[in-house]
Amino acid sequence: MIITPKTRGFICTTAHPEGCAANVQSQIDYVKSCPPIANPPKKVLVIGASTGYGLASRIVPAFSGGAATIGVFFEKPGTERKTGSAGWYNSVAFEEAAAEAGLYAKSFNGDAFSNEMKASVIETIKADLGQVDSIVYSLASPRRTDPTDGETYRSVLKPIGQPYSQKNLNTDTGEVNSVSIEPAVDDEIAHTVKVMGGEDWELWIAALKEAGVLAEGFTTVAYSYIGPDLTYPIYTNGTIGKAKEHLEESTARMNSEFGEGTAYVSVNKALVTQASSAIPVVPLYISLLYKVMKEADLHEGTIEQIQRLFADHLGSEEGATLDEKGRIRIDDWEMKDNIQAAVADAWEKVTTENLSDLSDFSGYKNEFLRLFGFGLEGVDYEKDTNPERPLPSE
Ligand code: NAI
Repeated sequence: MIITPKTRGFICTTAHPEGCAANVQSQIDYVKSCPPIANPPKKVLVIGASTGYGLASRIVPAFSGGAATIGVFFEKPGTERKTGSAGWYNSVAFEEAAAEAGLYAKSFNGDAFSNEMKASVIETIKADLGQVDSIVYSLASPRRTDPTDGETYRSVLKPIGQPYSQKNLNTDTGEVNSVSIEPAVDDEIAHTVKVMGGEDWELWIAALKEAGVLAEGFTTVAYSYIGPDLTYPIYTNGTIGKAKEHLEESTARMNSEFGEGTAYVSVNKALVTQASSAIPVVPLYISLLYKVMKEADLHEGTIEQIQRLFADHLGSEEGATLDEKGRIRIDDWEMKDNIQAAVADAWEKVTTENLSDLSDFSGYKNEFLRLFGFGLEGVDYEKDTNPERPLPSE
């Protein structure tokens, strides 16, 4: 099959197996080009391991520290006639590269929120690894079925208290328009916390503990975002921000149970991923941010961010450096005063007409397509390719 991108708004319904493999390989190459991490974890469980920050969190410990990894994700395998999802092909490529490097890697495709998934992962840890010493929680999901009551909760991206109007970018047409979003009702806030808060993260850690598969001195990390004032109403002070507050409460609970320095929230940089492209206003902010950060030679992608997370914090000799609220801040370069001032200035001025001058919208679009394996150097997109790719560990 010849596979081409089929995009609709923030969704691309096709993915290219060789392109995804090239994307994974370039992340592996980057990690191998960095100095080794001082104290890398050795047995790592990544929940949400197939794309974005979670994929990078699997690649860094594996290819920097030789870690055994177990990845959990929710992806679609390809069939003879239909392409799979990018996360599926990324995971196939990751496992193939891990096998070639002699590294243990197993993957679980299914619902991380379910009891069954937790039980299957625990069984495999017991059989193959004995214990895990690092658990990365990097899920981004629009819904969660809570196994205790069987109810399905849906997360929303809305402001709280009052409507929010802001500039926005139509990523299909390149038009800068505006968006107005009505505030969430109480149930929507509670449901977003149910889906994107720390409850399921804590359930994973409790289940792993109960099964006796947590190594002495294990650490666990989940990811958060803060960003600039202009996205506060839709992010930090909105429904998703409430869920991220809950993540921090989970961190405090786990640290009081297991000891300080066990659980961390890492605040990461805004980057193009399947999850972030769905948030109103954020694609315009990212397009402006990329331009400013690239010009300042401070731009990073997910792999550079996570390399820094392990090298400077989770796997460093000195341990993690925390902000006044106890969080790791790898969004530090994004939040530098000069970067934020330049983005705020461009934000005021940006229109449809000057978008390509003031922003890196073309970089945004290229990176979006790369998420699905399109536009990578060295990949022959004219060549017939087989969309059906088995996961080596299945
Ligand atoms: P992503 O969309 O690239 O990855 C989400 C992962 O979750 C995938 O591996 C997917 O298969 C998995 N997943 C979703 N539902 C699942 C389910 N029910 N069961 C098993 N796996 C499931 O997302 P991204 O952007 O990497 O986000 C990961 C975390 O990082 C989120 O907590 C997000 O809020 C946070 N973050 C993202 C930032 C960004 O700009 N992209 C910035 C800062 C934090």
